[in-house]
Amino acid sequence: MRPSKVTLYEVGPRDGLQAEAEIVSAADKIALIDRLSQAGLKYIEAASFVSARWVPQMADAAEVLAGIAREHGVAYPVLTPNLQGYEAARDAGATTVAIFGAASETFSRKNINCSIAESLERFRFVTESATRDGVKVRGYVSCVVGCPYEGRITPDAVVPVVQKMLDMGCYEISLGDTIGVATPGDIRRLLDVVLKFVPAEKLALHCHDTYGQALANILTGLDYGISVFDASVGGLGGCPYAPGASGNVATEDVLYMLDRMGVETDVELDAIVETAWFISGVLGRPPRSKVACAMRPSGS
Ligand code: HMG
Ligand code: MG
Repeated sequence: MRPSKVTLYEVGPRDGLQAEAEIVSAADKIALIDRLSQAGLKYIEAASFVSARWVPQMADAAEVLAGIAREHGVAYPVLTPNLQGYEAARDAGATTVAIFGAASETFSRKNINCSIAESLERFRFVTESATRDGVKVRGYVSCVVGCPYEGRITPDAVVPVVQKMLDMGCYEISLGDTIGVATPGDIRRLLDVVLKFVPAEKLALHCHDTYGQALANILTGLDYGISVFDASVGGLGGCPYAPGASGNVATEDVLYMLDRMGVETDVELDAIVETAWFISGVLGRPPRSKVACAMRPSGS
């Protein structure tokens, strides 16, 4: 049941940086992404094509996409909340995009300024255009366990959004514990329900580590046959519209655990740790992850 090979989906350049108040230069974002591809990651979420008024840090998305050294076999997905964002992303050369909805009405309104039903209508325009253009679409469902505004969210609220996104043609749905409140018990309760409707091969887990539960949650997901996990180098991250959310689980923490469990990822731990120190240097603070601190490269 437990997969012997796992795909790490890196969200550092997007989820990791989006809530940073100080604008990181496009050159530093490009250097970050190129280091991540050199470390062996095959999915690197590079930017968001969203309103610069809502998320100023992502205003240079097109410049970032234009500047990266695109490696063969590496996907550089970008977030697209609507057709406007999708068309800008496609024109900037994106070949994979991600739509992002929620299982909580209030979070949906706070994050993308519309109800869940309206968001699905908008996403349909994106997926229809993407299908015509041969662009792949990933789906996110946020607040699958807890919402900063509504509190506990039940699996029954998650399933219909997941199913509608898959019906639209998403190749995979990432289940987001947006504020990092889930425990392994919550993940079990969630997957016991969701997996009745959707196969594990179509799911990914996106764990924020606010309460230090992310690795345990990922291990729980592995035991349910999930083999794609989102993570952020250096444990960067948070959502500007999810107060209290801290960073995503650190890529190096997940990698250390998987490497030593004998689960293959094809990602080099030393290179990820160096990258965690690189981006932390840009941000002017040490990395948040235990593994990056334990494996601190000399000279950094
Ligand atoms: P809105 O204000 O409702 O949009 O925002 P609108 O359609 O009414 O348009 C208003 C203005 O926005 C217009 O400009 C549009 O052109 C512009 P104006 O005429 O006023 O100058 N606009 C856009 N500009 C650039 N790109 C676009 C775009 N669309 C409209 N795509 C909107 C709606 C969705 C745009 C806004 O709410 C928004 O940008 N939200 C983004 C929020 C965001 O990025 N949140 C963080 C990512 S989600 C997350 O982190 C969770 C995740 O990690 C999973 C997890 O942890 O659970 C994925
Ligand atoms: Mg997130």
